[in-house]
Amino acid sequence: MKKRYALAGASGRGFMMYGRNIVNNYADVAQVVGIFDPNYLRAGFVRDNLDKDIPTYTDFDKMIEETKPDCVIVTTMDSFHHEFIIRSLDAGCDVICEKPMTIDAQKTQEILDAEKRNGRKIIVTFNYRFIPYVTRVKELIREGAIGDVVAVDYEWLLDKRHGADYFRRWHKWMKNGGGLLVTKATHHFDMVNWWLDQDPVKVYANGALSFYGPQHAKDGRRSVRCTGCPYKKECELPFQGFDDITTRNADPMMKARANHLKGMYFDAESVDGYYRDQCLFANCDIYDNMSATVTYSGGTILTYSLQAFSPLEGVKFAINGTYGRIEGEAVASAIGHTELSFQLRVYNAKGEMVQYKIPQGQGPHGGGDMRMLDKIFRGNDSDPLGHMAGSRDGAMSVLVGAAANLSIKEDRPLYIKDMVHLYE
Ligand SMILES: NC(=O)c1ccc[n+]([C@@H]2O[C@H](COP(=O)([O-])OP(=O)(O)OC[C@H]3O[C@@H](n4cnc5c(N)ncnc54)[C@H](O)[C@@H]3O)[C@@H](O)[C@H]2O)c1
Repeated sequence: MKKRYALAGASGRGFMMYGRNIVNNYADVAQVVGIFDPNYLRAGFVRDNLDKDIPTYTDFDKMIEETKPDCVIVTTMDSFHHEFIIRSLDAGCDVICEKPMTIDAQKTQEILDAEKRNGRKIIVTFNYRFIPYVTRVKELIREGAIGDVVAVDYEWLLDKRHGADYFRRWHKWMKNGGGLLVTKATHHFDMVNWWLDQDPVKVYANGALSFYGPQHAKDGRRSVRCTGCPYKKECELPFQGFDDITTRNADPMMKARANHLKGMYFDAESVDGYYRDQCLFANCDIYDNMSATVTYSGGTILTYSLQAFSPLEGVKFAINGTYGRIEGEAVASAIGHTELSFQLRVYNAKGEMVQYKIPQGQGPHGGGDMRMLDKIFRGNDSDPLGHMAGSRDGAMSVLVGAAANLSIKEDRPLYIKDMVHLYE
């Protein structure tokens, strides 16, 4: 029998990652039975592009009542994840939740309490764990290739295409996504937590706004949004997608992207007034330049940094063990994102250097998305490396980011154990 899934959030992720894949690739085992979003036009666009028979709702409880899903897939704006996770669990459904599980310690606690009282299951979809090089690092550490891990240096770079996008959208306000230390870095903190198989204990962080925001508008040139902006010609980073839609029809990829941006956001503005192309130099309250140090339960020290305006996109890391070191690099040039290289160098206990070139997986996020979907929709219970993440993993990665935010605000170290009560 097909498993019944309801979508909480007619978001880009809800549509392209879950809705479209269930309909196109997993229809023999799964079906979308309902789509909820407060913006009925956006929900209608997603329905029309999936299956016109799927009912849409602006009332979540009504959707649950009428469609009786087995599982709710939560893909709203981050700050509302907890609300739909808890309402789903209380209604007797399991939950698949996009990262970050939520955005702060209080909401994390509410989720953990709801899971405990209902005995249902939350899956947090950490797709990065499924990227081939990330999995290979986990295996190498587990095999003891470098002894005990004592220190990790981890630098994540977002370029001015991808990084800028967080400053055009809802992510630009702390209250919506917890800033990049939560909404983005939850991937990275989870990756390190998973590699190390240790809990984060203490966090100290720094943050700055170094490129975006009103103080960096050249000659004070800033607007509300890119559509209709009088400075579009002079702007270093104009948004591509809405008002140049007709000129891009020659390229089928760009046409599809532009059509979806227009249909999901531009055409749905009359309902919620949300602009998908907000000015990068308008007000915001998140950081674009961050670093954190994290101490782990096994004594390992993580040194982390994230910039959102780099000429490169990707990650560079070094994992130092008592008998060796792993260096990794997965970086794309800012132009085109075509030349991704995934390189791992292992300096082993014998003093040798072994180099691995790991092929990229198929599809988005280095192949992580499709491998994870296969595991969710078709996988069996066998999970030797522990790829599937639950609420505890979701909590641990959110709490590192939430602690980092508080650390920056209050200029002090934060201890994870003081932030939530974990049920073991
Ligand atoms: N794992 C990944 O690699 C990955 C990639 C992209 C996005 N995501 C996550 O997926 C989720 C959706 O992101 P997106 O970029 O697709 O977002 P989006 O901007 O396309 O959609 C956000 C949705 O939230 C809805 N929303 C706003 N207020 C709401 C409320 N009060 N209650 C319920 N819904 C509300 C909006 O109407 C909109 O449909 C986020 O949690 C994001 O962090 C994960």
